[in-house]
Amino acid sequence: MVETSSPAKAILFGEHAVVYGKGAIAISLDLMMRLTVSTSEKTTVNGQDLSQPRHRYIKWAVENLWKGEALRIATRSDIPKASGLGSSAALSCCIASALASLKGEVREDAVARDAFEIEYNTQGRASPTDTSCSAHGRAINVSFERGEGHLWSLGKGERTWHIHHLEPPDMTLVIGFTGVPSVTSIQIEKVRSFYERSGFAKETIDEIGNIVEDGLRAMSSGDVVRIGELMNMNHACLSILGVSSKELQRLKDACDPYSYGVKITGAGGGGSVIALTDAPEKVMDAISSRGGRPFKAGISREGTRIVVSEKAASV
Ligand code: MEV
Repeated sequence: MVETSSPAKAILFGEHAVVYGKGAIAISLDLMMRLTVSTSEKTTVNGQDLSQPRHRYIKWAVENLWKGEALRIATRSDIPKASGLGSSAALSCCIASALASLKGEVREDAVARDAFEIEYNTQGRASPTDTSCSAHGRAINVSFERGEGHLWSLGKGERTWHIHHLEPPDMTLVIGFTGVPSVTSIQIEKVRSFYERSGFAKETIDEIGNIVEDGLRAMSSGDVVRIGELMNMNHACLSILGVSSKELQRLKDACDPYSYGVKITGAGGGGSVIALTDAPEKVMDAISSRGGRPFKAGISREGTRIVVSEKAASV
């Protein structure tokens, strides 16, 4: 039996633009996905037969990364589904690490690579930001050049993303989930069609790229005021790209008076906003009063982890 756990993630800067060759900054959150696997007569997930689309991430993983016996798989999660907080990335990291553990060797870079393959092949167009953040924990920055703190590099087609460890400054962050599901593939497709038709969309993606670079400098100097300003600018760019919604904007407007900065986090369309604040109770009340679900999430010190690994006793 193997038990693994992987954290949720929130993107502070750069979602969508990272798919087009710009950088991104993501932090892991102390909301966990847990998965257990043991060999069995028949492959099941939470007591049900493995099926599409319900178990599409696990199904792709089992069919492509596993050649052994049937598996009994069970999941438990603190991460709300389709909330923009990376539940599918955490699930992909959990199953990738559990299968690696059954095969005998778990390495963080290999988990990040396998989890990216699971997300990419299940979801279509994607960057390795969410899966690498969940695999590594703490915070990462993604860039198109290899730099200080380099962890691993992952490529698809003409793109290579270089993933780096980032030490985040002390920040109080509050998440506000709209309760409306965010479907990453739909939002990526929406941005793609705008990007292919419009020079303005390309300029907006370039602008997000500049915000990420400024964000990296603001994070290394721990300048929360500047981080907040840049979050607001990033939110405006995401709205131009068409991935905001009235529910997301309502939560942003409610949090703004008590925050350094507030933005959509993740693919958008629905999902969540993230607020940087030193008045978390006020921000949480503001989110609840507008019908959202608040979380005061800390940064996870851990990435994907094997919690238990037991070999069956041989008879
Ligand atoms: C989703 O959390 C982030 C996106 O940039 C997609 C991706 O990077 O794979 C929208």
